[in-house]
Amino acid sequence: MKVLVIGNGGREHAIAWKLLQSEKVQQVICVPGNGGTASTPRCMNLAMNALDFEGIARFALVNGVELIVVGPEVPLAAGITDYLQNQGLRVFGPTRMGAQIEASKAWAKALMQEAKIPTSEAVVFTQASPAIAYVRQQGAPIVVKADGLAAGKGVTVAETVEAAEVAINDVFAGKFGEAGERVVLEEYLVGQEISVLALTDGITVRPLVPAQDHKRIGEGDTGANTGGMGAYAPAPIATPDLMQQIQQEILEPAIATLRKRQIDYRGVLYAGLMITPSGNPKVIEFNCRFGDPETQVVLPLLTNPLHELLLACAEQRLESFPAIEWQPGAAACVVLAAGGYPEAYKKGNSITGIDQAEARGAFVFHAGTQRRGQNLVTDGGRVLGVTALGEDFEAAIAHAYGAVEQIHFDEMYYRRDIGHRVRSIKPSLNIEL
Ligand code: AMP
Ligand code: GLY
Repeated sequence: MKVLVIGNGGREHAIAWKLLQSEKVQQVICVPGNGGTASTPRCMNLAMNALDFEGIARFALVNGVELIVVGPEVPLAAGITDYLQNQGLRVFGPTRMGAQIEASKAWAKALMQEAKIPTSEAVVFTQASPAIAYVRQQGAPIVVKADGLAAGKGVTVAETVEAAEVAINDVFAGKFGEAGERVVLEEYLVGQEISVLALTDGITVRPLVPAQDHKRIGEGDTGANTGGMGAYAPAPIATPDLMQQIQQEILEPAIATLRKRQIDYRGVLYAGLMITPSGNPKVIEFNCRFGDPETQVVLPLLTNPLHELLLACAEQRLESFPAIEWQPGAAACVVLAAGGYPEAYKKGNSITGIDQAEARGAFVFHAGTQRRGQNLVTDGGRVLGVTALGEDFEAAIAHAYGAVEQIHFDEMYYRRDIGHRVRSIKPSLNIEL
């Protein structure tokens, strides 16, 4: 079969790579893809905009594409799935209404309240002055969120009332574009964060192995927020009992409530959770897609053919899918970024050493790269994600860093402490599915 993957990040390279592990997948077409998907056998890039729904549909129909997997949230929130499904195509990714779970934090909160899903207390404001009055009354710390999609930049964890006021004014001054019409003020939660990516066909929902990512740019989890500087799985904090609780209190009620609203949700429901000191999970956010870089550690542990799982979701027959199976051990991913990221950075630096890194058994997933003739150059802030497996975290992390040492580009930056929390913990498979 032919599969079309929309997106150009490390997540999409990992999806394409995993799909191609099955010989039944004849070809993967990435729209627009990156330097990594361009050089993967049986994979090709199609230079088309992810928002060119008509062009994508035409290509898929003419070329007999049997499944379309949508990576990023922006085309989902713009209704790509609705459009392609109307053309008779099979899509893995929720409809425009389903994508609201990520595209509007206020909408997601209302859904959680209706479904009685544990989450932080929150209030929505459409104007700055009542929002500021609320903050002055509540005090800090408090979390200020722009309502809409803001590429992960719309959240401020304000340590002081003054910082919260600045954040509120930024939102209403249009700093986050269309995401600036409403602000959500949230109770500040403490604990450990985990990412549970679950597959769903809108009726049945099944979690993948839980992962943890490192969002901050600096070692010791300090400095600015980023798209993610590294990840590992399976997250040891998510015991089988906790995964049961997450399934019953969060995933199932979310899907049941979407269904009650007649929303067709076939794709990933990504629950970003805080495990509070009492050991209970609370939802920080939902995303309507695979996580990046969580996908780069979750998919290498999966042993089922990925296209079979994604098709079962797209065709709404996940319930009868046999067990989702995992390799024992652990996976770690170290992101190599361009110096300066998440602020300004240079593009166009030559990258070397990927073959040597892969010769050590690591998987090098490309994010911001571009092929220029025979050369590979940097083309984004997060450039590569180097994933390795190991029998435990210690081994996976050492394996990943050994591979990272082979790779070079000017001003390459990466964190040297990925997985610091779990290094000495023995991983165990945390879910029974
Ligand atoms: P989000 O984009 O909603 O995932 O928020 C980005 C990051 O901000 C999260 O990964 C958390 O680290 C932090 N965050 C968001 N909401 C809260 C909250 N209610 N309490 C504490 N931290 C939060
Ligand atoms: N790694 C966080 C995200 O994908 O949103």
